[in-house]
Amino acid sequence: MYKYKCMNPIAKIGLNNFTDQYQVVDNVDDAEGILVRSANMLEMEFSDNLLAIARAGAGVNNIPLDKCAEQGIVVFNTPGANANGVKEMVLAAMLIASRDIIGGTEWVKANAGDPDIAKLTEKSKKKFAGTEIFGKKLGIIGLGAIGVRVANAARQLGMDVYGYDPYLSIDAAWRLSSDVKHVTNVDDIYSKCDIITVHVPALDSTKGMINAEAIAKMKKGVILINLARDILCNEVDVLAGINSGKIRKYVTDFPNPTTSGHDGCIVIPHLGASTEESEDNCAVKAVLELKDYLENGNINNSVNYPNCDMGICTRPRIGIFHKNVANMISQFTTALGDAGYNISDMTNKSKGDYAYTLIDLEDKITDDLVKKLTKVDGVIRVRVVKKEA
Ligand code: MLT
Repeated sequence: MYKYKCMNPIAKIGLNNFTDQYQVVDNVDDAEGILVRSANMLEMEFSDNLLAIARAGAGVNNIPLDKCAEQGIVVFNTPGANANGVKEMVLAAMLIASRDIIGGTEWVKANAGDPDIAKLTEKSKKKFAGTEIFGKKLGIIGLGAIGVRVANAARQLGMDVYGYDPYLSIDAAWRLSSDVKHVTNVDDIYSKCDIITVHVPALDSTKGMINAEAIAKMKKGVILINLARDILCNEVDVLAGINSGKIRKYVTDFPNPTTSGHDGCIVIPHLGASTEESEDNCAVKAVLELKDYLENGNINNSVNYPNCDMGICTRPRIGIFHKNVANMISQFTTALGDAGYNISDMTNKSKGDYAYTLIDLEDKITDDLVKKLTKVDGVIRVRVVKKEA
């Protein structure tokens, strides 16, 4: 029986994938798997029972990735599962920033009791007029699952699209419309584009990337959209840009005391992926990733360990989490050989400082073997996925 805990409500369609082999628990310390959306886990201590955390969403800045890696806890996310929801919100963001639809509807609400509202409308509507997005230059920073969808949709709306991504994957490149202009210097986005939208993960290297220096290079009257994470923008610099007239509107999906209520800021309460479809997709993907890891030791879409998949587990299987340093495999195979084991299949993958070795054996895995492997210098955790055939 596998035990899991949900730190936030997770869509039922996802949880329905758990069989009667799974039990939901109240106490997080009892859980082998955690499902989470936005709960802040950064200060949490994790029990030795915990094997994996699956985030139903893309961003993982609420999870301590390094701490988890150091304990051999695999962190999964669900890239692409909510990309359409966020893409549609970017389209909405461009439209509500270009035309004062929000100001206009608020005006109607405020004047709802006026019997002459129809007449008054025609006199007053001037102040809510705006611009169209057709023909405008859109700059997309980050061409992952969301950025590519935004780029292609914007092309279909008649925008002139520029994309910047130094880490563009082959898969993303295949899906990207050939009409999108791929720039290799982000300054080209800043200097050319009327609307700029940011779609990169929140990392130390991307934190505050939209700052006074970047804003100074932008066109006067630029619309800036940030539905990725607030820390990507130095928002004090953004407000200065709004006050000076450089930035026409800043649309963010992350309310905080700096931007909320500030003129020129359109602050959405983190609704980018809050659609039935996105929540369902993320829940299903997160649960399936977690199950595959718990049942088979396979890792797909992890952010702190490498992907590694040996299919359905039918033999004794052992997973070893270790540092990505030389001479690890030979020590594992020596320990196995000395104990008389025959390896029937083995995969070793690495990601940054960490590595994962998954081994199928022909004989029952003993506690003694686990102890020997655990003692190898650089090993973080040894997990018996299946003890015997
Ligand atoms: C994401 O990171 O996937 C989106 O911001 C939506 C969310 O946090 O749930």
